[in-house]
Amino acid sequence: MVGVSPKIAPSMLSSDFANLAAEAKRMIDLGANWLHMDIMDGHFVPNLTIGAPVIESLRKHTNAYLDCHLMVTNPMDYVEQMGKAGASGFTFHIEVAQDNWQELVRKIKSAGMRPGVALKPGTPVEQVFPLVEGATPVEMVLVMTVEPGFGGQKFMPTMMDKVQALRQKYPTLDIEVDGGLGPSTIDAAAAAGANCIVAGSSVFGAPEPGNVISLLRASVEKASLTT
Ligand code: DX5
Ligand code: ZN
Repeated sequence: MVGVSPKIAPSMLSSDFANLAAEAKRMIDLGANWLHMDIMDGHFVPNLTIGAPVIESLRKHTNAYLDCHLMVTNPMDYVEQMGKAGASGFTFHIEVAQDNWQELVRKIKSAGMRPGVALKPGTPVEQVFPLVEGATPVEMVLVMTVEPGFGGQKFMPTMMDKVQALRQKYPTLDIEVDGGLGPSTIDAAAAAGANCIVAGSSVFGAPEPGNVISLLRASVEKASLTT
């Protein structure tokens, strides 16, 4: 797995939102690479979380890479405000961008963010190939390993076929997995070729979150030596 490095991204959805700045600092101090920010509009998924104003507030307290996962029906509507707010990565769902992903990716880049595409468990992986191979390609693919909407769900191991297919085709692509990742599931994800690991409840629910972050990283590093 030459060219990809592990990125451990605690999902701030599982943090204490009332103390977001302190929670962000705690995760970075414990060795997290990225902070995963779940933005849900109550329409694409049946849950409502945070938006650009919260990203803007958090940005004043941290320089960390804010890995924003937009579970929204109209991602185009949020590109400009997310860019201004200080988002680092902007990952949209292919299910709502079939017709306009080219324009969307261009806008994300010109707003100074790194474009990524996510797919729900029921979406075939082939749907994202053109986005990786396009003239203005996405720089990350997020393979959902639960139905998006909530933290604390069970990892779906069958999604590893998608990760494997992507890794085989794209040796240097950032491939992210999100949902149910923790000490008992990381080895499957790492072996399939995932290098960006989102983990909410397994990190924030642990007595020593730093140990979980280290364990996730070690698993990705180990897998990358053998592939
Ligand atoms: C789910 C979100 C995830 C979620 C992961 O829709 O996209 O980022 O917070 O939480 P865990 O790790 O608890 O499954
Ligand atoms: Zn997410």
